[in-house]
Amino acid sequence: MWITSDPARVREWSRAYRAAHLRVGFVPTMGALHEGHLSLIRAAREECDRAIVSIYVNPLQFGPTEDLSRYPRPFARDVDLCRREGAAGIFHGTDEGLYPPGFSTSVEVAKLTEGLCGASRPGHFRGVTTIVAKLLAIVEPHAAYFGAKDFQQAAVIRRLTADLDLPVRIRVLPTIREPDGLAMSSRNAYLTPPEREAATCLIRALRRAQEAYDRGERRASTLRAEMEAGLLAEPLARPDYIEVVDPLTLERIERADRGALLALAVWIGGTRLIDNALVGAQLP
Ligand code: PAJ
Repeated sequence: MWITSDPARVREWSRAYRAAHLRVGFVPTMGALHEGHLSLIRAAREECDRAIVSIYVNPLQFGPTEDLSRYPRPFARDVDLCRREGAAGIFHGTDEGLYPPGFSTSVEVAKLTEGLCGASRPGHFRGVTTIVAKLLAIVEPHAAYFGAKDFQQAAVIRRLTADLDLPVRIRVLPTIREPDGLAMSSRNAYLTPPEREAATCLIRALRRAQEAYDRGERRASTLRAEMEAGLLAEPLARPDYIEVVDPLTLERIERADRGALLALAVWIGGTRLIDNALVGAQLP
């Protein structure tokens, strides 16, 4: 397994695979890998011939008061995990290599980025789409793999690649969870034991709304109230947003007759967690 910080070397590897008629799957990450990331690497390996993983904590997608400096960076462990999963190589990007002096371009997707996390994290998606556009240009993969845990991010990246005619297939795979239902996230490492316990309120809130949907409830206001009640039951939880949106446009809906995305962002102490669930709709 190769490891490089040099974008030109990554492109050489990828082009060598292509020249040998091998399909290249790409998994962009910020490291601190967990089973969610590993499920994407596995899918890339299964569906393609070579899996390239990028590990780079992208400063552009963090707000000024966010957790950039304390974001976990267990690189040696990540390398072991990638090797164990049979990744072909790791692109370990650096700030100097990716944003050299004079860098002044950004890539922005409108509309889909306005609500949900876009509303509470201004500039976040511009940072994500800028780095993902760069990574896709460097790696030139046949397919790129994303998790449904970050549903809005995946939708925004699909839009980006469609609008810019980028020749890559975007694959979105299900959220991997802890046994108690908490969605795996590198940020779960910030939680103290009582906060970790409290963090199950996200999945409990989603399940309450899912159960209401399964009983036939279609009013978004009621589904939303179910989620809110689930979160209010947890004193350590401070909701950032609780939304019921159209799974394609991510716009608020009044009724879930054609399915819905239930989406949450919740502060547990100093840690902001997100989670979501589709009702009456499949992952695109
Ligand atoms: P990161 O948070 O490291 O996530 C990398 C990929 O793993 C994303 O596609 C994310 O949706 C997926 N992922 C995270 N937790 C998951 C889980 N529990 N189950 C399934 N997939 C999961 O998302 C980013 O990094 C960055 O924004 C990035 C796209 C790399 C751009 O910097």
